[in-house]
Amino acid sequence: MLIIHTISELRTALDAERAAGKSIGFAPTMGALHHGHESLMVAASTMCEVGVASIFVNPLQFAPDEDLDSYPRMLDEDAAKAEAAGIDYLFVPSVREMYPEENWTTVSLRVVTEPWEGDSRPTHFAGVATVVSKLFNIVGPCTAFFGQKDFQQLAMLRRMTTDLNFPVDVKGMPTVREEDGLAMSSRNLRLTPEHRAQAPTVQKALQAGVSAINSGERDPAAVEAVVRAVLATAPAADKPDYIAVVDAASLRTPKVLEGEIRLLTAVKFGDVRLIDNVGVTVD
Ligand code: PAJ
Repeated sequence: MLIIHTISELRTALDAERAAGKSIGFAPTMGALHHGHESLMVAASTMCEVGVASIFVNPLQFAPDEDLDSYPRMLDEDAAKAEAAGIDYLFVPSVREMYPEENWTTVSLRVVTEPWEGDSRPTHFAGVATVVSKLFNIVGPCTAFFGQKDFQQLAMLRRMTTDLNFPVDVKGMPTVREEDGLAMSSRNLRLTPEHRAQAPTVQKALQAGVSAINSGERDPAAVEAVVRAVLATAPAADKPDYIAVVDAASLRTPKVLEGEIRLLTAVKFGDVRLIDNVGVTVD
């Protein structure tokens, strides 16, 4: 595996791979890698001939009160994990390499970014859309792998790729979970033992919502009430930021549930905010 720090070196390497007829798989991350990230890297390197991953803690997507400075940075461990996942090129640019000048161009999307996470983090998605646009332009034509764990981010990036005609095939990959159902996240390590014990309730609550839909419930408000009731059984999780029962592409709440539906929630355990979601198809 080659670790590359500059845009020009990565472009040269990947242009040569494409010229030799190789397909490129790309897994962008912010590092502090766990099995969720590794699953994207394995997908990129097995579903495509050349596996590329990036590690870049993108300042643009952090609000001033968020954890940019304390975001974990551990390049040696991460590089070993990326290599074990089959990655050929690991792109690790500096902030100066990605943003040599003050950023005057922003990519932002309407509709899909407005509710849910957009309510709590109003500048976050434009920061993600802007850096992923830059990464897509740097990496070039490829298949890019993102986790369904961040479902609203995935929905936004799919739409951005279509709207702006990026030569990229966006693939959403399943959420990797701990044995008790908790979605893997670097934030899980910050949970107190008591909150860690309650955290699997988030996934149980979403699954209860899916069961209600599978039993014939078609009213989003009724499904939301089912999810809320199960969340309330975890004393620390009784006030979720939101519970969304939505169309999987627009992330809007339909009047009646049909087609591809997604149930999403964000719950704060102390000062650790966890997000999770599940999908269900309604015939
Ligand atoms: P980061 O939080 O590092 O996540 C990188 C990728 O890993 C994202 O696509 C995310 O959805 C995926 N991921 C995280 N936890 C996962 C899990 N438990 N199972 C499966 N996939 C999981 O998301 C970002 O970075 C940034 O916003 C980024 C897209 C890199 C732009 O800066």
